[in-house]
Amino acid sequence: MKITVRTSALETIKGPLLVVATPETNGRLPRSIRGLDRTHGGLIGRMIRAGGYEGKLGDSIMGFPTSGPKRLLLVGVGPADGVVRHSVRRAAAVAARKALDAKVTRLSLCVPSEASGGLSGKILGQSIAEGLAQGAWTFDEFKDESETVGPVEAATVIALSADARRELEVGCGIGQAIGGGQGVARRLQALPGNVCTPTFLGETAEKLGREYGFKVTVYDEARIRRMRMGALLSVASGSSEEPRLIVLEYRGGKGPPVCLVGKGVTFDTGGISIKPSLNMEEMKFDMSGAAAVMGTFEVLGRLRPQCNVVGIIPSVENMPSASAVRPGDIVKSHSGKTIEIINTDAEGRLILSDALSFARRFKPSCVIDIATLTGAVIVALGHDATGLMGNDDDLVAEVQSAGEVADERCWPLPMWDEYRSALDSDYADIKNLGDRAASSIAAGWFLREFVGDLPWAHLDIAGTAYRNSDRAHMAKGPTGVGVRLFTQFILGRVS
Ligand code: BES
Ligand code: MN
Ligand code: ZN
Repeated sequence: MKITVRTSALETIKGPLLVVATPETNGRLPRSIRGLDRTHGGLIGRMIRAGGYEGKLGDSIMGFPTSGPKRLLLVGVGPADGVVRHSVRRAAAVAARKALDAKVTRLSLCVPSEASGGLSGKILGQSIAEGLAQGAWTFDEFKDESETVGPVEAATVIALSADARRELEVGCGIGQAIGGGQGVARRLQALPGNVCTPTFLGETAEKLGREYGFKVTVYDEARIRRMRMGALLSVASGSSEEPRLIVLEYRGGKGPPVCLVGKGVTFDTGGISIKPSLNMEEMKFDMSGAAAVMGTFEVLGRLRPQCNVVGIIPSVENMPSASAVRPGDIVKSHSGKTIEIINTDAEGRLILSDALSFARRFKPSCVIDIATLTGAVIVALGHDATGLMGNDDDLVAEVQSAGEVADERCWPLPMWDEYRSALDSDYADIKNLGDRAASSIAAGWFLREFVGDLPWAHLDIAGTAYRNSDRAHMAKGPTGVGVRLFTQFILGRVS
């Protein structure tokens, strides 16, 4: 989608769709659209009354003026005094989703000052562009062309004064990069397991590196073996797909890198500890952590911030077969620790443990891993919060606040010493499964054993990586969670 910023008065705008954001109406016509209402002979007032539009966040109503734009869409940002970035982002996303529904390929959108909660022009532009990209996202690579919707090709963001224009433009540029990164992540998530294999993820990373000029190293099975990553290899052993360890290195500044580690299980059957069939197709999303890291590198490539970031993606397919790892098997990890594999479905922590101990060679300032790690985090936090753990309170707080700003909220789970003993093994240094109690925390503790003394945070996105139902601002399916949070975290450390 091409986004341009233009200065004009609402009354002069034509085209297939004009979108205006409004705060909660409280039964009155919002100030910024009174002129427009007069121009169209009271149409907006009638629309609002007849349609029961209240301007709540997520609300929208479409009308059809007889002159000017073909369609007029109002989108709500909620109470005027409570408008924050994600109110604007969500409203813009609702607008783009409505444009898709109406099969409109171009739109103009204005967020007047009464609907922008005092946000700076730059933040406003960023939120608008992020929202438009999010709402306009589609995935129809495998559909007949007659069945596809979109794309929304062009959006014009209306600045009501010449002063506001420049700042909006800068913000839109940033928002478009972030939206683009989120789109990359969502596409990779949506691709099925027979297409998006570890090999495919490696090739996609190499392509990204070539496009933006950063270093990408893809380790194949032989090299992984030479590095003695026995935990990663044990998960890969049941599959005819070769594993990959993918390393992306963005160098844009001085100092030690931030290290992002993403779980890349391209399909998780559970292995010999096989999963039930119901909803197993969702396990193509088990590479959502990897997708978030790749999406973040798309953003880095586009924005080129002055910092260093290393991305590490251990990628495998978890399959049952005659060569698959067995419950009870003991493997030796890259760190040298031995692991007793109690359950082959607790595979994410196995591949991450090797990736986390490998991360130490980059001498990073911190490591953040992101993984669809445990079903239990869905029980604990549902689909609106990512589980957050770590070994460093300051880092955990920094990640949580980046998530707050980015509207990818996280909530901390405790990592008290008492939880560690669940992983004591009778035969090896550690086992990969405790009992059923607090299993998200046990998984976190397992990872912690492999990061050494590096500041480390862990994001369990099993509940937030994808959705099974539509929301006004986001289609069901993959969410690209992590891209906005990571970008906010990284940019927050640059400035
Ligand atoms: N990929 C799953 C976790 C998951 C569950 C992601 C639901 C998304 C939705 C992970 O590999 C897994 O199988 N975890 C097991 C761990 C158990 C064996 C300790 C789980 O959560 O059931
Ligand atoms: Mn599993
Ligand atoms: Zn898994």
